[in-house]
Parts: sequence; structure tokens; C-alpha cells
Amino acid sequence: MDAATLTKPAVLILLGPPGAGKGTQARLLEQKFGLVQLSTGDLLRAAVKAGTEAGLQAKAVMEAGDLVSDEIVIAILRDRLGEPDVARGVILDGFPRTTVQAEALDALLASTGQKINAAISLEVDDAAMVSRISGRYTCGDCGEGYHDTFKSPDVYGICDKCGSGNMVRRADDKAETVASRLEAYHAQTAPLIAYYGERGVLKTVDAMLAIDDVASAIQQTTAEAIA
Ligand code: AP5
Repeated sequence: MDAATLTKPAVLILLGPPGAGKGTQARLLEQKFGLVQLSTGDLLRAAVKAGTEAGLQAKAVMEAGDLVSDEIVIAILRDRLGEPDVARGVILDGFPRTTVQAEALDALLASTGQKINAAISLEVDDAAMVSRISGRYTCGDCGEGYHDTFKSPDVYGICDKCGSGNMVRRADDKAETVASRLEAYHAQTAPLIAYYGERGVLKTVDAMLAIDDVASAIQQTTAEAIA
């Protein structure tokens, strides 16, 4: 199944710790299936940059590696889900991250007659996460992600996708912040693996493999889940 044959709105969740590859894989799924990537991290960073009320409240929390309040994140996601481009279906990248967010998502989808096709858990060990995050950089213009070791652009410093030379590193990718993000993941987000397991939509993928191999596994799982 691909973008041309997808007939009903799909809802996919990518679950996983910081650096698991959620953003990398969500972008590949977007291209393959025509779904829209909704990253609450990206939405929050845009709010911080725009200086909105939510962004002002989120900034210090994100820089400390803690989770932004459920209230702010749910409101941001609800607004984004109301925009017309998501009608074909979405890949939720980094949401939900708490049980309260998962329950809010269930209620939101129930109100529009939608359901979760799959919650795909990217399994990766803590040491790999730290090395992935510390080597990560992104094109500041189109958002394409790169890594010092695992994914370099064809020409050093130049984005393969849009040709920009504006590469940026995230403020929360410092070693001390990464430790807090991992702690928040284990305490507040990892319980969602059981939450979706109990609802029969959990799929797991070995995210320690190379990017292309993880992509194949996730794309096969997605094709089955949205068929
Ligand atoms: P967010 O932006 O969601 O960050 P995160 O979950 O910490 O995840 P990352 O973006 O760091 O990693 P990723 O899994 O997308 O990995 P990537 O593909 O980039 O959240 C940031 C902050 O916002 C949070 O800390 C919180 O404060 C707040 N927030 C966001 N959502 C929230 C919510 N719902 N509730 C409350 N607060 C929220 O890959 C990482 C690197 O590894 C890349 O360089 C990539 O090239 C490389 N890589 C990827 N896959 C592989 C592979 N298989 N092998 C080798 N390298 C790989």
C-alpha cells in the first residue's frame, strides 16, 4: 500500500526514547505513504521560536530535558489535528508521552470516529541513544536530519534535500540534558508500551539496526496496519 492506494485516514504512533529514530523514520513514512508527520517537539520548538504564550512556558522546561505540561502539548496537538492537510492520516512523532496524553488522544479520535492503526515502539538501548543524540544535526531550513557518524550529507555541510548550508544542533542535545530526557522517558513514557499492548495495537521494531533496515521493518508494519 502506498500514497496512491491509501483510502482511509490512518493514525500511526511512533513510540520510543530520545534518539530512537522517530523523526528519521517519520519522514521516510511521510514520503512512502503520504501521511503527515506531527512532531510535538517540532511544534513546541516552533512555538518557542515564534514567542507564543505556550512557547514561552515550554522553553525552560525543554532546555532542562523535562516534559512540557500535558495541557500545553494536548492543546498544540489538538489545534494541529484540526488543520486540513492531516485529513489523509498522521504519524504522531513524540506524542503521546504520558498516560494523560494517551487518554486525551483516545478521546479526540473517538470524537471524530478515528482509531489508532498501530503504535510502533522503536526499541533501542540507552547507550545508543546518547551517541545518536550527541552526533545529531539538522538542516535549519527544511528539517532534514543528519548524524556525524551514521548519516552524513553527500557534500559536507550542505543539505542533500534542499541545498542549504544552514545546519543546526538542538539546544537540548547537551549531555546533561540528554540524561534528564532519558529519565523522563523511562518514568513517564515507557508505560505507554503496556498501554498500547493492552489495546492490541502495539508493534515493536528493533531500532538498533541500520536506518534502512529499521525503515523496512517499520514500513512493512505500517502497510499491514493501514491495509
Ligand atoms: P522531541 O523533539 O520529540 O525529542 P525526543 O523525543 O527526545 O526525540 P528526538 O527528536 O531527540 O529523537 P528521535 O527519536 O526523533 O531521533 P532522530 O530521528 O532525530 O522532544 C523534545 C522536547 O520537547 C522533550 O524533551 C520535551 O521537553 C518536549 N516535548 C515534545 N513532545 C512532548 C510531549 N508529547 N509531551 C511533553 N513534552 C514534549 O535520530 C537521532 C539521530 O540518530 C539522528 O542524527 C539520526 O540520523 C540518527 N539515527 C536515527 N536512526 C538511526 C539508526 N537506526 N542507526 C544510527 N543512527 C540513527
